[in-house]
Amino acid sequence: MPRTAGTTETSSRGLTTGSAPFIEQARSRGELFIEQPCHLYSQANHDSWRLLHERIRPRWERYANRHFLKGIETLQLPYDQIPGLDRINRILRPMTGFQAKGVSGYVPAFLFFDCLRRREFPTTITIRPADQLDYLSEPDIFHDVAGHVPMHTETAFAEALVRFGDCAHTAVEITGSIRDEQERARRLTSIIRAMSRFFWFTVEFGLMRGPRGIYAYGSGLLSSYGELEHALESSQVGRYPIQMEWVINQAFEIDHYQPLLFSVDSFDHLFDLVEQLERWMRDGRLNNVAPGEPHIDERDLRSFLEAGDFGR
Ligand SMILES: [Fe+2]
Repeated sequence: MPRTAGTTETSSRGLTTGSAPFIEQARSRGELFIEQPCHLYSQANHDSWRLLHERIRPRWERYANRHFLKGIETLQLPYDQIPGLDRINRILRPMTGFQAKGVSGYVPAFLFFDCLRRREFPTTITIRPADQLDYLSEPDIFHDVAGHVPMHTETAFAEALVRFGDCAHTAVEITGSIRDEQERARRLTSIIRAMSRFFWFTVEFGLMRGPRGIYAYGSGLLSSYGELEHALESSQVGRYPIQMEWVINQAFEIDHYQPLLFSVDSFDHLFDLVEQLERWMRDGRLNNVAPGEPHIDERDLRSFLEAGDFGR
């Protein structure tokens, strides 16, 4: 069958973050969960994966926690081409029940946390352009698949993620009876801010302290060649044992290396912290966290409010 001009254009531009016609079309149709059309990756896309993988590999061996390294081995992430999510899921699903699920863009907070509860990880399928290998403000498939997914092979970590997803439902449940709409939105905003900070300082930028030293398990670190070394070596970074009251009140900015990081002792410890987060939520201790970053996007707040309205 002859190709149309549109198909040719779609193929030639590949699946590059910020300029992928396939993604633009999915968004214009309102499709958030999408297939991963592997045939659309261009050679430049595969080259970006290979370059990112090649240069960070020695740093993983030096700075990543052993569960991550084991996950990389188990999933057999290819060096030279972007992996298919189906192949990864065939290995991952029998291990912890988790699976990577392609998305076309931003997933509002409640929906994202609810996916974790169902052991689905919303996964970006585009890859950063070759001239932006060092930093991209939005996630790409290297961050999501090479940074997050290997951790999902680890049972205790996976269970902590699922419990974290439960917390989003708890937030909806305990704010559902508030009749004053303004107060309900204010309280949910504070709770979402606390949850986002907790997620940021653990799942995204967490460190783990063990008998052999301190290692990274956070995906923001594990997918950044520059920041991974900086996080573990720089004297400019404060590294502290995690404390709940600190983490939920600590603002963060996403556009530079993190000056402050927190460590857990194990993933059982992380799971206990998620339980503590939920207890604090029920006790009202997340209702007035310190203002500041992250700004809570209108879409995030609305996703929680709508989940609550649905149950009313
Ligand atoms: Fe992430």
